[in-house]
Amino acid sequence: MRRSLIDLDDLSAHEIEYLFERTTAFERKAPSRLLDGVACVNMFFEQSTRTYTSFNLAELRLGAQVVNLAPKDLSLATKGETVEDTVITLAAMGVQVLVVRHPEAGFPKRLAMAFDGHVVNAGDGAHAHPTQALLDIFTLREEFNELRGLTVAIVGDVLHSRVAHSTMLGLIGLGVDVVLVGPECFLPTGHAIAGARIERDLDAVLEHAHALILLRIQRERFETMPLTDAEYVASYRLDHARLSRLRPQTIVMHPGPYNRGMELDDSVLEFAGWRYARQVMHGVYVRMAVLDFLVNGQR
Ligand code: NCD
Repeated sequence: MRRSLIDLDDLSAHEIEYLFERTTAFERKAPSRLLDGVACVNMFFEQSTRTYTSFNLAELRLGAQVVNLAPKDLSLATKGETVEDTVITLAAMGVQVLVVRHPEAGFPKRLAMAFDGHVVNAGDGAHAHPTQALLDIFTLREEFNELRGLTVAIVGDVLHSRVAHSTMLGLIGLGVDVVLVGPECFLPTGHAIAGARIERDLDAVLEHAHALILLRIQRERFETMPLTDAEYVASYRLDHARLSRLRPQTIVMHPGPYNRGMELDDSVLEFAGWRYARQVMHGVYVRMAVLDFLVNGQR
């Protein structure tokens, strides 16, 4: 089986370090055509603006041949073809990389088992989103250099967030004190917490956190909202008053898309420590580093 990236624990600490070195190098100087002629197929079975554009740009900037398959164009959707047969077909055409987003947790893994090539998980259900985790961690590193000993609060609908899952996996591995903050209905339990702390009260963490990662309420992943919007806003929205209680160097991040009025208000978008645009910018280069690493190996 060739190298794929399904979740962050597919990478060793060494390899993550290597990916960050490459990301930094690519940001300084655009690399030459490291994926010259490599055929990449992007399959996004769920809406996406950032991740879709980011992977496309990463592939194009590395000189890859890029095909975007919308779900409605796939024979497996309507013509009874199995996932396994789809990937056999694509491999026979010389496709080497599949980037896949799917609402079902585990779908990219299934593809990877059947595909004679590399699969990159661009988000599967509430399971994982490893390239988002890498760009989040890269953004934190840019800010703080050494992550060990920092306190990072992940705030909101942690339970349904694949970003929270993957980012916290990475941060805990790097010695970060991760605090999951939200109402009980949005917090994971048991082994899913995996070394993080739980805090229901956002106001109790504001003065201690070095970084806040805000999350969107993932309404498409549950039936009925377990609390009212007004209750959520009162306890968890980051607004002017809460921003004023942060330490001077604290940064605020968000994987996007953010919902103004729910998890944040407009004052966050003007806050000096708001790092959303940095995250998005790093995302393209992190994905270039991942694609080069999977296809060409470590240099
Ligand atoms: C997230 C996703 O789709 O997992 N966004 C992203 O990829 N940057 C988060 C979300 O949908 O809220």
